[in-house]
Amino acid sequence: MAESAPALRSGTRAASVEHHLRPGALQLAALPPLALYVHLPWCLVKCPYCDFNSHEMARSALPEARYLQALRADLEAALPLVWGRPIVSVFIGGGTPSLFSPDGIDALLSSVRALLPLEPACEMTLEANPGTFERERFRAFAQAGVNRLSIGVQSFDDALLARIGRVHDGEQARAAAQEAHEAFERFNLDLMYALPGQSLDQLQRDLDTALAFEPPHLSVYHLTIEPNTRFALHPPPRPDDDLASDMLDSIVELTAHAGLARYEVSAFARPGRECEHNLNYWHFGDYLGIGAGAHSKLSFPHRVVRQQRWREPATYMAQALQGEAVSNEHEVARDALAFEFMLNALRLRDGFATQLFGERTGLPLSSIEEALQQAERRGLIDRDASRVWPSARGFDFLSDLQQLFLPRS
Ligand SMILES: C[S@@+](CC[C@H](N)C(=O)[O-])C[C@H]1O[C@@H](n2cnc3c(N)ncnc32)[C@H](O)[C@@H]1O
Ligand code: SF4
Repeated sequence: MAESAPALRSGTRAASVEHHLRPGALQLAALPPLALYVHLPWCLVKCPYCDFNSHEMARSALPEARYLQALRADLEAALPLVWGRPIVSVFIGGGTPSLFSPDGIDALLSSVRALLPLEPACEMTLEANPGTFERERFRAFAQAGVNRLSIGVQSFDDALLARIGRVHDGEQARAAAQEAHEAFERFNLDLMYALPGQSLDQLQRDLDTALAFEPPHLSVYHLTIEPNTRFALHPPPRPDDDLASDMLDSIVELTAHAGLARYEVSAFARPGRECEHNLNYWHFGDYLGIGAGAHSKLSFPHRVVRQQRWREPATYMAQALQGEAVSNEHEVARDALAFEFMLNALRLRDGFATQLFGERTGLPLSSIEEALQQAERRGLIDRDASRVWPSARGFDFLSDLQQLFLPRS
């Protein structure tokens, strides 16, 4: 990521709203839509491939009440930065948010509603892990206002689940998907592929099982080995590139057959069932992230600011309760904005409206014209008078395409 601007401040209270509103070189005609992300950082067990800000915790030891207090304090302190702006979507992610009680989620969403204006029909997603909820709990989340569930299935195959260190088995994954199908009109299943020792057959069985629950949305991620994970230390043998590529072809074919379009590199949806929250990221919208380690991107008329909260949950709670949840923030450099916009928008099958580029970055399209022409010459994008989108080849070689837009300094 090209977060190349120097940190303005680190480990101190976030800058005042007046500071962010001062004049600057950037001119944004209008502020983008604003989403809210809430991070709940605990899991029963840390998976060996996971580099998210998640920490092992027994359910009985979860400091739920204190964390909810900290989240409320965090939100209250952030309000002046987003004053009056309606929230287009809420995403409660983790970690394993379904470890929190329905009453806790209810209290959280009540605070959110009391403090922020929500758009009517605002999408409110909660991430849930198989094996962390029972039927009643599930419905209680819906009653608390959650209207979309995202279930981290990964696979339905017991042997593969064990190999990637998941705490649940295939039966629990099927039960969770069935519950989601019954209780939620909008739900997502997360799958991973190119798992240790996975065959094409096994992948196809996972997909068939997932599709049998008629998910309106499916996310399918290629397993990546992230630094500082147990898999990075002891990498398991995984399918080679040819097999992984055959798996992806199969995923695209089977999902299309079931009526789900690949609208983003890893996301598949029925028409109208795309994830609003993620679409806002990919359209380079704004988001306020509260909770341990959460990231925010906030636009002001003359600058775009990124913030991060304290990562370690105990530190975060102590700091947030004193109104000091932000550990560092920086202004995004002007030339990094174009790259960051393209990094996101080129993930979408339909790319972006050229007008949106100017609205979100404050820059003229001419600032990336040279890179666009290069991408066009290499067959990586297509465009017409009003849109730019990745070609089929661009989608396959996405990081090559994105790199053409790196700041040149
Ligand atoms: C924020 S994670 C957490 C969701 C939930 N805690 C879970 O694990 O089921 C969201 C999704 O990212 C995907 N993911 C996490 N680490 C990954 C990795 N190293 N490679 C590919 N996908 C990964 C998984 O599909 C996961 O469901
Ligand atoms: S359950 Fe999800 S967030 Fe938690 S460690 Fe595993 S992959 Fe990471």
